[in-house]
Amino acid sequence: MEKSFYQSLFEKNEKWIEKRLTDDPDFFKRMARGQSPQLLWIGCADSRVPANEIIGTEPGEVFVHRNIANLVVHTDMNMLSVLDYAVNVLKVKHVVVCGHYGCGGVQAAMGNKSYGVIDNWIRHIKDVYRFHKDELDQIHQEDQKFNRFVELNVVEQVFDLAKTSIVQNAWKNDQKLSIHGWVYSLSDGKIIDLNVNFNNNSELHKVYQLKN
Ligand code: CO
Repeated sequence: MEKSFYQSLFEKNEKWIEKRLTDDPDFFKRMARGQSPQLLWIGCADSRVPANEIIGTEPGEVFVHRNIANLVVHTDMNMLSVLDYAVNVLKVKHVVVCGHYGCGGVQAAMGNKSYGVIDNWIRHIKDVYRFHKDELDQIHQEDQKFNRFVELNVVEQVFDLAKTSIVQNAWKNDQKLSIHGWVYSLSDGKIIDLNVNFNNNSELHKVYQLKN
């Protein structure tokens, strides 16, 4: 009987262990001792955007949170917990929001089809469209509009990240923490830096700035 994809996973795991141990006999001992990643990655759940792999990092180097369309939603306890742990316990130096062209979540947000429960998640992306309506409505080529929407979604998520109490408190305590926005291109593997970087809250609209 042909081995199923599922069954093959255990074999692949064994092979991976073997390779790791050949390259570095202490690998698992080191891993078991703890982690001190310098980067928190907030990315899309899409199977084609494996965080560690596309930036060539090893286990232990990147703390990862992924959801549909790499959103930073302020009521999302999952995201907040990951962010809090990364910033306040692991003391990461960088947080990256990485979107990707061809994102199904962003595409869904451009249309009007209902997909069920996920519509309520996608709504957050529709807000991004509304904020940037003037720019997006002027792009008549659908694929160009889609690409720009993906980029603007990342930019907004970086702003949302900067607005969280967790990030602003870190800055208030003079913790070194930079946040960045990237887009990954599925068609050639390249990461595009959107040059939206924050390391303090001075560029946030005044109404969002938290003071003691
Ligand atoms: Co996606």
